[in-house]
Amino acid sequence: NNVPVIAVDGPGGAGKGELCLRLSKKYGFAILDSGAIYRVLAYAALKKGLALDAEEELSALASGLNLSFKEVNNAVAVILDGEDVSSFIRTEETGGAASKVAVLPKVRAALLQRQRDFAVNPGLIADGRDMGTVVFPDASAKIFLDASAEERARRRVAQLESRGVAADYDKILKEIADRDYRDRNRATAPLKPADDALVLDSTTLSIQEVVDTAVKFIETKL
Ligand code: C5P
Repeated sequence: NNVPVIAVDGPGGAGKGELCLRLSKKYGFAILDSGAIYRVLAYAALKKGLALDAEEELSALASGLNLSFKEVNNAVAVILDGEDVSSFIRTEETGGAASKVAVLPKVRAALLQRQRDFAVNPGLIADGRDMGTVVFPDASAKIFLDASAEERARRRVAQLESRGVAADYDKILKEIADRDYRDRNRATAPLKPADDALVLDSTTLSIQEVVDTAVKFIETKL
């Protein structure tokens, strides 16, 4: 199909979420937050008491997952079995659990078509780890947004502190490093730039600089 897809991949905390929001506003495309799907699956698995390496059970759960996204006052809520689970899935604990279920090939296979179904007109901004490499290999434009683990940990600490939540930099840096390691080194759909991706390192760039560079690149592709 020829629905325009803009794939935005990279590690957690590099600024993909904000970039995707800006691109979605600019082009009027919907956003697929594929990480939320892995997070909801991990959350549902923990709730059922499933082990995070039980591949058969987890892939069956993934196939039957009753999941939807709904816009609630300008933010996207994640609905599982009719319940808004957004606040439960946004924790670093669930992110870590998501990266464990995400190494399992049958789980990834079970979620593939569900993700592709989000590509409808006028277009899609696909946010994840393997959008440009596996899920949408024919995407119109692919961006890989990276940043050093230290900078991502600093941003996370600042974000938590701005919400009045105490944050431990060393603990957060270790969680980020562990999750990155799993995402970059798994056998199936590891985190890496597609051959035809624009690689952007946001470590020393402002969000505006990231958006401007991304848009210039996208304009040559759409
Ligand atoms: O992006 P987010 O932090 O929400 O993703 C949570 C985890 O889900 C990632 O660390 C990764 O292991 C997994 N994931 C994935 N493929 C995607 C999106 C997320 O494996 N396309």
